[in-house]
Amino acid sequence: MTEFDPARRKLLQTTAVAASSAVLATGTVAEAEAAAPARSSAPGQVATVNVTLRVNGAEHQMVIDPRTTLLDVLRERLQLTGSKKGCDQGQCGACTVLVDGRRFTSCLTLAVMQEGHEITTIEGLGTPMHLHPLQAAFVKHDGYQCGFCTPGQICSAVAMLDEIRAGTPSHVTADLTRAPPMTPVEFRERMSGNICRCGAYMNIQAAIAEVAGVKP
Ligand code: FES
Ligand code: FES
Repeated sequence: MTEFDPARRKLLQTTAVAASSAVLATGTVAEAEAAAPARSSAPGQVATVNVTLRVNGAEHQMVIDPRTTLLDVLRERLQLTGSKKGCDQGQCGACTVLVDGRRFTSCLTLAVMQEGHEITTIEGLGTPMHLHPLQAAFVKHDGYQCGFCTPGQICSAVAMLDEIRAGTPSHVTADLTRAPPMTPVEFRERMSGNICRCGAYMNIQAAIAEVAGVKP
C-alpha cells in the first residue's frame, strides 16, 4: 500500500478544483455568447453600426465602423471637406466644428457619440452670397494665407464669442465676479487651440475684434 503523501493529495485537490472551474467558465462564455446581440458583420470582419447624424440642418443616415471619428465622417462620407485634418490628435484645431453651438475638435470625437446633436461645419455657417459675419470679416481683414486653418479658426471664433457673451471665464479673466471682457487678450487666450502655420494671427485677431465690436 502506498504511503499517504500530503503534497500529492494537495495537488490532486487543486487539479480537481481547476477542472471544475474550467467547466464553469466554459458554461459562462457559452451563455454570454447566446445572450449577445446579433453581430452586424461576419466573424473576423469589422462590426458596423447604423447612425443618423444631423449636419448643417440635414439628416444623414449611414452605416459606419463605430470607431470612425466625426471628422472622417464629415470629410469622407458627407464630402464636407471644409473641416481640415491637420494633426488628427487634438493639437491644431483645424478640424473644429460646432456641436450644439459648442466648439469641438472633430478628430477627437467619434461620430456615433454625436447622434442626436446639431452639428455645424464651416459649410453650414454661411453661403458664398450670404457669408456669416465672421467669414466676411476674415475676407475683409485677410485673416488667412494658405487657408488650411481658416474653417477651424472661424468655427472656433463663432463659439468663442458666444462663450464670452455667456460669461464663461478663461485663464486670463482677471475678475471672476464680472462678465469677461471682449478684449484682444481674451481672444488670444481663447483662440490658442487654433494654430495657424502661416502666422496670420494679427489679421485673424482684427477680424474677430471687428465682429465683437472692439478695437483689435
Ligand atoms: S486635426 Fe483635429 S485638432 Fe488637429
Ligand atoms: S492661413 Fe495657413 S495655416 Fe493659417
